[in-house]
Amino acid sequence: MAGSYDDKLARLDDLRREALAGGGPEKAARIHAKGRLTARERVHLLLDEDSFQETGVFVRHRSHELGMDTNRPVGDGMVTGMGRIDGRQVAVFAQDFTVFGGSMSESNALKICRLMDLALENGCPVIGLNDSGGARIQEGVRSLAGYAEIFWRNTMASGVVPQISAILGPCAGGAVYSPAITDFTLMVDKTSYMFVTGPNVIKMVTNEDVTFEELGGAETHSTRSGVAHFMAASDQDCLLMVRRLLGFLPQNNLEEPPRTVPADRPDRREEKLNSIVPDDSRKPYDMLEVIRLVVDEGDFLEVQPRHAQNIICGFARLDGQPVGIVANQPRFQAGVLDIASSQKAARFVRTCDCFNVPLVVFEDVPGFLPGTDQEFGGIIKHGAKLLFAFCEATVPKLTVITRKAYGGAYDVMNSKHIRADWNVAWPGAELAVMGPEGAVNILYRQQIADASDPEAERRRLVAQYNETYANPFIAAGLGYLDDVIEPAETRRELVRALHNLRNKKQTLPPKKHGNIPL
Ligand code: HXC
Repeated sequence: MAGSYDDKLARLDDLRREALAGGGPEKAARIHAKGRLTARERVHLLLDEDSFQETGVFVRHRSHELGMDTNRPVGDGMVTGMGRIDGRQVAVFAQDFTVFGGSMSESNALKICRLMDLALENGCPVIGLNDSGGARIQEGVRSLAGYAEIFWRNTMASGVVPQISAILGPCAGGAVYSPAITDFTLMVDKTSYMFVTGPNVIKMVTNEDVTFEELGGAETHSTRSGVAHFMAASDQDCLLMVRRLLGFLPQNNLEEPPRTVPADRPDRREEKLNSIVPDDSRKPYDMLEVIRLVVDEGDFLEVQPRHAQNIICGFARLDGQPVGIVANQPRFQAGVLDIASSQKAARFVRTCDCFNVPLVVFEDVPGFLPGTDQEFGGIIKHGAKLLFAFCEATVPKLTVITRKAYGGAYDVMNSKHIRADWNVAWPGAELAVMGPEGAVNILYRQQIADASDPEAERRRLVAQYNETYANPFIAAGLGYLDDVIEPAETRRELVRALHNLRNKKQTLPPKKHGNIPL
């Protein structure tokens, strides 16, 4: 005979307590000692108070080999469910390192898959909190199958719902490819790492000595490789960043990003902008300052701030409307386009386009970086990525040329000719095939050599070239620019243009998909 209902309730209580305990207090203490939080603590911090509804609470693994049949913890080291961030629905999964090192089993892969299916059907973002020893060794190929099921869903969900990966511990081997497919990867300094093969394998194969941190720490991926979009100081910091990032994104590709009510006047003049560009066009200035002076409340969330710093990408708002900003940074390598900056910006442009975030470009670009490194590294195909991304983007596209717009880079950086909607320049802008020095040296080499004072002749010709070509009015006269504006009015003009483009509809020719030069 079945026991009383009280017994049933008590059993439920016991099982739920077991699920909530994960690997138990000792293992949790070990995680804390390393400066990390447990999976449940993370979910709690990430989501709005009391908004989490768990899925697959009582799932256990299905292995019998290697003594696994006597060790079947409730939940199987994976916390999954739906919750809210700023009142908006999100799906979240968190690997629990206290249970089998957060390793991926067939069962917990199914939990993630089920959650992703739900997220896709309900059109909400998916957030993965990764902290795992990788494929569960005891499960062999069944674990690999689980990973592949997740990769497939990541790919299907790409461009449909935002997918965000926080790396909060180890993430190694093929496991890195799920975060890599998602839209944004965040890492925590000193406590997270990502690599395809670890230091020991590298030592065996290539005889290189490298530490975990050097190879795949947050610092490495935020600076050198560009794999991480954001680096956080702690788990808490990372989870707050995820919340902030989602504020710029829509729930899915059929919705608009959420507008806010700004505490900043749409027509605010910014006098500082009238003197921010130095008189000497070879002198740098800080494009980040330009951006902060223009956007709502100076609030700018920079993406990959320490990778390819010659280009700036990030989110801000203009009169409450989220925008994606791409800007050349004259403070680093004069803002030149190279392989890394082209890739960084191309990816960002595509992210904005698939999630209906209008693009605003601030342009000051001397061209593409010359050099054998760049040519042998394939700057042709990598630069083409950025060109392709801007060409294909159908969101409202706005460009402000603050100073230089030279050569092919002029075309690439969201020019009118590749269907930008509203292009303007500041009065000191220079739109030309190349800078004055280079042009004069090519056009007048003989004339300069024959002159009685070659240096004076060169200076005269440079001045003449500047007067004739290096200004915005030839392009404006041809209609390539919609206007030449006073820098102080930049915010007001951008806000107006965005309002005027709010109903923009542009469709691409029917096709399976474009063939972006990868
Ligand atoms: C099963 C695992 C595990 C795994 C760790 N554990 N990784 N169990 N499968 N992959 C268990 C440990 O046995 C241990 O159990 C507990 O998790 C914590 O692990 P520790 O080693 O004590 O923790 P720590 O010292 O912090 O080291 C973490 C680690 C290390 C560096 C991640 O555990 C490790 O090297 N694990 C193996 C990593 C790996 O090679 N994975 C396969 C990679 S290939 P107890 O019971 O003692 O607490 C891969 C392919 C993915 O993942 C393919 C996708 C296509």
